[in-house]
Amino acid sequence: MNPNKILIFDTTLRDGEQVPGCKLNTKEKVGLALELENLGVDIIEAGFPISSSGDFESVEAISKIIKNSIVCGLSRAVEKDIEVAAAALKYAKRPRIHTGIGTSDYHIKSKFNATQNEILARAIQCVKWARNFTDDVEFYAEDAGRTENEYLARVIEAVIKAGATTVNIPDTTGYCLPHEYGSKIAYLVNNVPNIDKAVISCHCHNDLGLATANSIAGVISGAKQIECTINGLGERAGNTSLEEVVMVIKQHKELNFYTNINARLLNPMSRQVSDTMRMPVQPNKAIVGSNAFSHSSGIHQDGFLKDSQTYEIINPDEVGADSSKIILTARSGRSALAYRFQNLGFVFDRNDIDALYQEFEKVADVKKEIVDSDLKELATTYNNSIAVSN
Ligand code: KIV
Ligand code: ZN
Repeated sequence: MNPNKILIFDTTLRDGEQVPGCKLNTKEKVGLALELENLGVDIIEAGFPISSSGDFESVEAISKIIKNSIVCGLSRAVEKDIEVAAAALKYAKRPRIHTGIGTSDYHIKSKFNATQNEILARAIQCVKWARNFTDDVEFYAEDAGRTENEYLARVIEAVIKAGATTVNIPDTTGYCLPHEYGSKIAYLVNNVPNIDKAVISCHCHNDLGLATANSIAGVISGAKQIECTINGLGERAGNTSLEEVVMVIKQHKELNFYTNINARLLNPMSRQVSDTMRMPVQPNKAIVGSNAFSHSSGIHQDGFLKDSQTYEIINPDEVGADSSKIILTARSGRSALAYRFQNLGFVFDRNDIDALYQEFEKVADVKKEIVDSDLKELATTYNNSIAVSN
């Protein structure tokens, strides 16, 4: 694999689908899986087969239809889980079993009432068991974000020895700061002797709004895979947003990374996920929010109209968004007003715009946004008053 390639592991259909109200049926999941493959996702986590018969059926149906992407099924470190995941993935061209266990003291003591050595043994055992069904086994160390590095490194070394080909380092609770998460990945790179035998994966949650920053810190430190979801959907405050990490990597050429994602499909994909999962996208969401390419204050509008790059670092075309919008509000200025009139076919000179701006301000102070019909009315009233005075 090219060392600069960052693999995109999409978990919209698994971690994303855990959002209350986002449950999908098999037909919806298959439809989204096909779109994810078309988007260029390297690995599609299709579900958690043991969790329900519906999820089993979905993973099986996705396995039958997906040709290029790896199809992945989640399991706990339990033999039966792994067997059911393997059965659901039976028809996949490129199956991956994702198995693992919690490694932080919260998990070891509170959840399992166990010791570090017992958890280590279960981790090794689950990877060995999964390797009976496929050569592509990913191990997750749940709550790695709050796991002490020395123990985490021991677990990771042991699971790679047992056959894990990808090692997932989840910040399950979204607790880490970017420099901490980056250092954790660097610690593994430097202290796990067999780390070159596996791909390190970042799986970050967004509880403190740091999921994207942490994932990027992870790849800068040597991880080669990012786990993410469309629109950042996921448990609680969500997962790393696919569109954000893809565009950080694309915009920051100095990082020297690339992904296989067709960025022009990001906005259509976002809309499709939002519609299918019945989960609106917040307007100010980076890359795919309805305001991501809108300008509404006078200073910004004037700068944008002189040179779009003054206030936009991404061309909306590049991410399949509608063209940039100049929104007229009470904060807008004369350049924006003239621009919008011009788009509607009204040609006014500077004096006209000065006069129209006074009328515009009166309406804008009452209405939240001035739309085309308001502008047409302003222009018609103004033109009539000129005609009368002549
Ligand atoms: O957040 C997490 O730790 C997970 C694992 C199951 C991979 O989703
Ligand atoms: Zn997760």
